[in-house]
Amino acid sequence: MRILALESSCDETAAAVVEDGRRVLSSVIASQVEEHKLYGGVVPEIASRRHCEAIVGVTQQALEQAGMVLDEVDAIAVTYAPGLIGALLVGVNFAKGLALSSGKPLIPVHHLRSHIAANYITSPELEPPFLCLVVSGGHSHIIEVKDYTDLRVIGRTRDDAAGEAFDKAARAMGMSYPGGVEMDKIAQSGDPNAFSLPHPTVDGSDYDFSFSGLKTAVINLIHNAEQKGQTLPVPDLAASFRKAVVDCLVKNFVKAAQNTNSTKLVIAGGVSANSLLRSRLQQECDKRGWKFYMPQLSLCGDNAAMVGAQAYYEYLSGKIAGMDLNARAEMPVDAKA
Ligand code: KG4
Ligand code: ZN
Repeated sequence: MRILALESSCDETAAAVVEDGRRVLSSVIASQVEEHKLYGGVVPEIASRRHCEAIVGVTQQALEQAGMVLDEVDAIAVTYAPGLIGALLVGVNFAKGLALSSGKPLIPVHHLRSHIAANYITSPELEPPFLCLVVSGGHSHIIEVKDYTDLRVIGRTRDDAAGEAFDKAARAMGMSYPGGVEMDKIAQSGDPNAFSLPHPTVDGSDYDFSFSGLKTAVINLIHNAEQKGQTLPVPDLAASFRKAVVDCLVKNFVKAAQNTNSTKLVIAGGVSANSLLRSRLQQECDKRGWKFYMPQLSLCGDNAAMVGAQAYYEYLSGKIAGMDLNARAEMPVDAKA
């Protein structure tokens, strides 16, 4: 089954053709990040307008690269939630138009489920059940993936998402949006023990995260130094911050795996590109004889190939949208409907 998939939940307009949930026939991404950089973060209205301009061209390119015309695909899939509402609406409405005019089924896909599905492309042997740490700019969840469309969130952030914390701390260190990637690079040359930063825990929950205190601690350090006319060594600060975030993620994820008897661990979302998170979890899993899966770097960030992968399983489970499909800014990843 060949699915034409569309993604427009944040600041990338993307289209892809994916066969049977695992084989990527084409994948095209138009990123708006250079424009949003000017403002230090994503400006929702600009994002919607850029999607509006790019979506037709990106879709045509994806079909061309796959060597297909619209009539040859079997279904249309689209990210419908969660995300920036104006941005999502562009993709949803365009996908509806395609489905209506071609008579193909329309498959709605949850953004976080698609991040998880990036792993099905990278590791064709991977099948549920497994335990997944989904870390992106908007979410930090520990999820029991019982089956492709049967998920249960067992841990979540109580405040900032991991990616958001990286971006805000990076901004305070003078890096441009989205700072997570740059901080990861700069941290390589720093001393992770140079600054002792808090490792916040959440009372009464072993699996929940809290990153806002950690973010504030590093911002205060920088401001206090500035007031004294000092500048702190950015590589050391970046390395210490990255270590603190990764320590928190790894600790809760490993504990959740132990308590749920999971021996197959998976990471997903933009922050799963973080080099320290990848190496630390690989070590933790190797030590215990657990299997560890991570998406290839090109599939960690937002793309449409991952949407096409998850869409296949949503379709098999009977999830077909009507022409009244709406976009949703919020939607739990484990919602049944
Ligand atoms: O999944 P994603 O592309 O978009 C959302 O769905 O939010 O995630 C974007 C987030 C940004 O916060 C970005 O800074 C972060 O992922 N990110 C990283 C790295 N690469 C991307 N954070 C830390 N280390 C990285 N290497
Ligand atoms: Zn994302």
